[in-house]
Amino acid sequence: MASMTILSLASATPSTSPCPPKKEIAGLSFGQTLRKDGGDLFLKGKSANRVAMAVAAINTSRFEGVTMAPPDPILGVSEAFRADTNDLKLNLGVGAYRTEELQPYVLKVVKKVENLMLEKGDNKEYLPIEGLAAFNKATAELMFGADSPVIREGRVATVQGLSGTGSLRLAAAFIQRYFPDAKALISSPTWGNHKNIFNDARVFFSEYRYYDPKTVGLDFDGMIADIKAAPDGSFVLLHGCAHNPTGIDPTPEQWEKIADVIQEKNHIPFFDVAYQGFASGSLDEDASSVRLFVERGMEILVAQSYSKNLGLYAERIGAINVVCSSSDAATRVKSQLKRLARPMYSNPPVHGARIVANVVGDPTLFSEWKEEMQLMAGRIKGVRQKLFDSLSEKDKSGKDWSFILRQIGMFSYTGLNKAQSDNMTNKWHVYMTKDGRISLAGLSLAKCEYLADAIIDSFHNVS
Ligand SMILES: Cc1ncc(COP(=O)(O)O)c(C=O)c1O
Repeated sequence: MASMTILSLASATPSTSPCPPKKEIAGLSFGQTLRKDGGDLFLKGKSANRVAMAVAAINTSRFEGVTMAPPDPILGVSEAFRADTNDLKLNLGVGAYRTEELQPYVLKVVKKVENLMLEKGDNKEYLPIEGLAAFNKATAELMFGADSPVIREGRVATVQGLSGTGSLRLAAAFIQRYFPDAKALISSPTWGNHKNIFNDARVFFSEYRYYDPKTVGLDFDGMIADIKAAPDGSFVLLHGCAHNPTGIDPTPEQWEKIADVIQEKNHIPFFDVAYQGFASGSLDEDASSVRLFVERGMEILVAQSYSKNLGLYAERIGAINVVCSSSDAATRVKSQLKRLARPMYSNPPVHGARIVANVVGDPTLFSEWKEEMQLMAGRIKGVRQKLFDSLSEKDKSGKDWSFILRQIGMFSYTGLNKAQSDNMTNKWHVYMTKDGRISLAGLSLAKCEYLADAIIDSFHNVS
């Protein structure tokens, strides 16, 4: 059954097909090795001994047919940055928070709670497949509000995931298994890993318009038209707040209209919330888009991450929530999410889950976290303002840079094209993704003027 699905995916609609052609998926069939000239060297089962001898004799790897993967467009930027020896270098590629001294930051509240955990001497037993119960409760309450009817009525299936990415991937596997013919819609542009996630889960996707290069703002009409044009019952991936890479979010009124058309079309909203509390500094404000859909009684999926807002990048802590219209459905959905998780990674890691549960569960620690989050969000807003001021002051061409102030969250989408982004790196040692995105979380006030010079040069002198 599964292989039949793969075949049909591989052969259908090449423009939107998420899947590589079947021969790429399959690569070499198990036990088969190819010579460099492509001829079959042996087939396993004919003679295992002869196989071993042949391999030893010609000293050829059985992985000869494995091609080199391209570097990851985001994480590859950090590798290039590390290799640059120039003192002026600036890494604005990866979305990770830095202090004004451009150093990684471990939140004080995290250090505090880790010390408490150490004193308590928690054990290292396996967690259940669905994760730590106290974490699942806390994470759902943070997202939907502690007094939300969907929580009270037991209508949310929450499963701890391997941060945002793992939670999205689990949900994609769920979509593939239970809605194999459904299509996902993702924004153009979007965080690059969304495409990888749907591709690997073999979920068809296409893009809806989102970014308007003319205004460096939201192409709202295009977005609505594309969501309307999608087949009924599609999964519409939405960034809950602080859209990555553009930093452009719909207004509350626009969110209402997006909800209207999604409801009209019987689509299923699938929220990716990687920056709750990081966009505005308020956990509740950044959850308002999700809550608007929930208050309308819609069934939705929500992936969460604590990489940014608690700085737990390497702990891989997040969750997938599926809000259902009945508690019975939620119970069944959860059972299937667990069934998908078990053969993938068995059960999730405990450390990050305990940090989140302990911070959220203690009123003092919780308010300390909120204060630190506001400080981090505030620092990013500060550099955003300073970058805008520097650009406006230095650029005598009359270009309007105010779009930078209208963007929100960690990123700014500068509107620089690939050649201009290359100039930023090659000439100015500013490392960034080739789509023109810069992470303001990796910028200090002290470096804003230098960055403004680099942007002005790249914008005006490179076509
Ligand atoms: C939009 C979006 N979704 C999900 C993630 C997932 O991050 P993580 O897997 O570290 O939680 C990120 C991280 O950059 C992101 O920007």
